[in-house]
Amino acid sequence: MKVIRTVAELRAELLEPRRAGRRIGLVPTMGSFHAGHLSLMRRARQDCDVVVVSLFVNPTQFNDAADLDAYPRDPERDAVLAADIGVDYLFAPAVEEVYPPGFATTVSVVGLTETLEGAYRGRAHFDGVATVVTKLFNMVGPDVAYFGQKDAQQALVIRRFVRDLDIPVAIDVCPTVREPDGLAMSSRNVHLSPADRVRAAALHRALSAAREAVSRGERDPNAARERALTELTSDGIEPEYVELVSADELAPIEWIDGDVLAVLAAPLGGTRLIDNEPIQAPNGDRRP
Ligand code: PAJ
Repeated sequence: MKVIRTVAELRAELLEPRRAGRRIGLVPTMGSFHAGHLSLMRRARQDCDVVVVSLFVNPTQFNDAADLDAYPRDPERDAVLAADIGVDYLFAPAVEEVYPPGFATTVSVVGLTETLEGAYRGRAHFDGVATVVTKLFNMVGPDVAYFGQKDAQQALVIRRFVRDLDIPVAIDVCPTVREPDGLAMSSRNVHLSPADRVRAAALHRALSAAREAVSRGERDPNAARERALTELTSDGIEPEYVELVSADELAPIEWIDGDVLAVLAAPLGGTRLIDNEPIQAPNGDRRP
């Protein structure tokens, strides 16, 4: 595995494989790898001839400087883990390589970014994500890029600007990888106190409770939401939001029908966790 720091070097490396028609896969990350990241890399390794993993802690998507400073970083360990999976290139540019002096352009998706995470983290978050991922697509020119269902809204935002801007890349969204107790893997989990780490399992229990309610025939989103909320509050967790929304637009729903998403965000100690669960309700049930 080669570690690459500049766009020029990356383009030079990819010139030949691209000419030869090799399938190039990109896994964008902010490092501090866990099993979720590694699952995306393995999928890319299976599907592609050339696998590029980007490692860039993107300052523009953080709400505040303290959160950016506290973001876990372990580049040496990351390089070992990626090499073990057979990643070809670890692209780890400096901030100035990505944002040169005078940088003045933003990719901004309206609508989809204004609810849930967008509402709580502010518009700058998804603007930062959309802009850096657009840049990564232009730097690498991948045939396919891999993202996690864990960040469901992020994946939808990426699908949207890829379509709207006609970027020639396929987007593969991969299942959420979880700890044995159901907690979704996240780089931020290392910040949880031992007690909060135990309580954090309630997030997945809450989503499962909503899914089970739907599988038993519940079609009222408020009732399913209540089931999830009870799981959280019984563990002393006050969510920022817990909702059932449409799976494609993340819009409020009046009735559970077809593909929906149970989504939640909750602060535990100083750590903000998010999770979601896709739920399929059989179409066509009649409203009472
Ligand atoms: P990061 O949080 O490092 O996540 C990199 C990728 O790993 C994202 O696509 C994310 O959804 C996925 N991922 C995280 N936890 C996962 C889990 N438990 N199971 C499966 N996949 C998981 O998301 C970002 O970085 C950034 O916003 C980025 C897209 C790189 C832009 O800066």
